[in-house]
This record gives sequence, structure tokens and C-alpha cells, in this order.
Amino acid sequence: MSEFISVAKVGDIPEGQGRSYPVDGSMVGVFLIDGEYHAINDSCPHMGASLASGYVEDGAVTCPWHAWRFCVKNGTWLDNPQSKLKTDCYEVSVDGDEIRVRLAETDPVETDPVENES
Ligand code: FES
Repeated sequence: MSEFISVAKVGDIPEGQGRSYPVDGSMVGVFLIDGEYHAINDSCPHMGASLASGYVEDGAVTCPWHAWRFCVKNGTWLDNPQSKLKTDCYEVSVDGDEIRVRLAETDPVETDPVENES
């Protein structure tokens, strides 16, 4: 399991926005939503735009290139939540004034096919 890596200081990310940071060769988008930090893969699964530069509203980030929307808390593709498409999400911890991210994917959200049958 990978270690937590410091990416930013508390105060670097304005409430309701995201910022992207390099972590172990990958870009991670870190968002501050209602006082809590969340981290997802910064690369949009559609064509790779930086999700951290997208508009954030109600816990959803809108990709700046083609407007696909993702939940910043669990990576779900909100335009089609029944799809298995999602972006990875990562653990975030705050240690003193350091915002830290661990790249190991947490709690992958995959749609249970049984739940989709109706
Ligand atoms: S690159 Fe994100 S929606 Fe197209």
C-alpha cells in the first residue's frame, strides 16, 4: 500500500474549487467541498482534460473540455451513473497544515449489475 504524500498546504485550495498536483508520476485533482478535501484522478477518462480546472457545483466537477460531470467524492460519472465508467478516487488526510494524498484507489464504485436489472 502506498504512503500518504503531501501535495499542498491547508488554504492553497479555495472552498468549492480544485487544484491538480503531481503524485508519484500521476496528476491528482484535489477539491475542497464543504470544508472536506477529496482527491480523484485529475485526468478525465474521456480525453484527458484536467478535471481540477473544471467548474464545481454540488460536489460535482464539470470537465472543462466536453462537460462530462464527475462526483469529486467517489469518482462516479454523474451523466450516466449506471455506467461502470468512473474516475479513480484516493484517500486524503490533513496532518497539521499539510494536505496529503495516498494513491492507492479507495472503495471503487462499481455499479452492481443486479441492481441495474429492472
Ligand atoms: S475530456 Fe473530459 S469530457 Fe471530454
